[in-house]
Amino acid sequence: MEDAGLREQRRQRLAASGQAHLLRYWDGLEEGERAELLADLDDCHFPESLCFFRRAAQQAAPEQQQQQQQHRVDESMEPVPKEVQGSVSRDRERLPGWQAEGLLQISQSKVAVLLLAGGQGTRLGVTFPKGMYNVGLLSQKTLFQIQAERILKLQQWASEQFGHKCMIPWYIMTSGRTMDSTKEFFVKNDYFGLQKENIIFFQQGMLPALTFDGKAILEGKSKIAMAPDGNGGLYRALGNQKIVEDMEDRGIAYIHVYCVDNILVKVADPTFIGFCVEQQADCGAKVVEKTHPTEAVGVVCKVNGLYQVVEYSEITLATAQKRNADGHLMFNAGNICNHYFTLQFLKDVVKIHEPKLQHHIARKKIPYINDQGQQINPDKPNGIKMEKFVFDIFQFSKKFVIFEVLREDEFSPLKNADSQDGKDTPSTARHALMSLHHRWVLNAGGQFVDENGSRIPAIPSSATGMSEAVTAVVNDNLKELTDLPIKCEISPLVSYAGEGLGKHVAGHDFRAPLIIDEKGIHELIKNGL
Ligand code: UD1
Repeated sequence: MEDAGLREQRRQRLAASGQAHLLRYWDGLEEGERAELLADLDDCHFPESLCFFRRAAQQAAPEQQQQQQQHRVDESMEPVPKEVQGSVSRDRERLPGWQAEGLLQISQSKVAVLLLAGGQGTRLGVTFPKGMYNVGLLSQKTLFQIQAERILKLQQWASEQFGHKCMIPWYIMTSGRTMDSTKEFFVKNDYFGLQKENIIFFQQGMLPALTFDGKAILEGKSKIAMAPDGNGGLYRALGNQKIVEDMEDRGIAYIHVYCVDNILVKVADPTFIGFCVEQQADCGAKVVEKTHPTEAVGVVCKVNGLYQVVEYSEITLATAQKRNADGHLMFNAGNICNHYFTLQFLKDVVKIHEPKLQHHIARKKIPYINDQGQQINPDKPNGIKMEKFVFDIFQFSKKFVIFEVLREDEFSPLKNADSQDGKDTPSTARHALMSLHHRWVLNAGGQFVDENGSRIPAIPSSATGMSEAVTAVVNDNLKELTDLPIKCEISPLVSYAGEGLGKHVAGHDFRAPLIIDEKGIHELIKNGL
């Protein structure tokens, strides 16, 4: 417990930062509550938080001024030039070469993956880390387990191909809110078969939420409203916690950074890695074609000649709606939060560029305790949260590339709770994975039959060798499948991206629900499950 002298010093320091109101309920707090408040105060670092606030304050300026700024950004936006783009559909003949290059780098243990898992899952409405979410697959696997098994499979694939063992270290960034539960989950699940020493947890920072005039907000009498400092808090955390040094010690050269919620994520995708390595890029982003102007994805583009993502919350509708002569959106490089960095680039970012990154401001409705000690849930924004974004470092890249992939193969994020016609929900994620695996079986020569034994019409792969006309038909079929997918799930331990399935499925008829895992093929109905 603090003595009176220390408490007075603290009170004075807070008063000097304009935050004396945070001790308003101090006298009535129990000992445990006082300790809680003191811990929050220690995490707030007010002089620095207020400095961030002032630097970003222009963005939180009155709405009219914000709109003017947004228009200025829009006027300076240009699409990414063709020369820096690779594409799984336009560059089909080059994919095997890129994949081979990526597998080579993985086999030499030069590739690490870094998971951004410090978000709070507010939209999904869960109190636990999103990676622990089970979307209701046949196997009941969580997002963390799916990602872990993809890493295991890739290590095995690269090791077998090149005849020696290799490791893909998995760096996992959590926040103060998600660290303990994430770690416990990994321990409880025995690290999903990965080696404990190759999973490195580290923690991003937190920042206080502030009123529009820079006062921290009490969300309870002994609790300050705080939030993680955005996924761009990564770079500070990499420096503070000596993660870059750890990567260097392990001989890592290339890092795949990705967000936790995409059930189709190709962790350490060898084709993406190989493409970036071959292009000698220091920084790269995977994108999918943005399909409609209001889709909640950022767009990769150039602003004032520098690469950047203009976030979905920051683009004006008029710009988002612009189309090329061919009818495609002009700004259609949809960011799927899958990034590639060389270690050298990350080192430069951490050492040189990070302090230059500005916080983005989000106006939020922040629950608070009023002067009468009542809990209030405001119905309009009453404060701001400050966040850095992971892609804000693209501007420092000397050789930037983008790699366009197919949405149905690689992007189905989990953002919202299930609701009728909901987007990016547990149901859409589950359906996307099962549809993909259904196509893998068909591509490998398997078939599905219905309860009468009649073959269910086959749908070819959308990834390989199709004309545009066929792709259009397939995409229509896929839309239907998203409503009613064939229940089919293939363990990542059996296949990372559809490879090697022929020996299991070619020439066979299957009845869904079907699971193919490391123990064999399970037709759940035939097995009476
Ligand atoms: C993100 C991208 C957006 C992209 C979309 C695709 C950013 C800033 N925006 O948007 O351009 O189109 O994904 O799905 O990347 N996270 C942290 N710490 C934080 C906040 C978030 O680690 O403080 C992590 C989350 O756990 C998640 C990832 O960052 O893994 C993305 O965060 P989320 O809030 O889901 O981003 P979106 O707004 O969906």
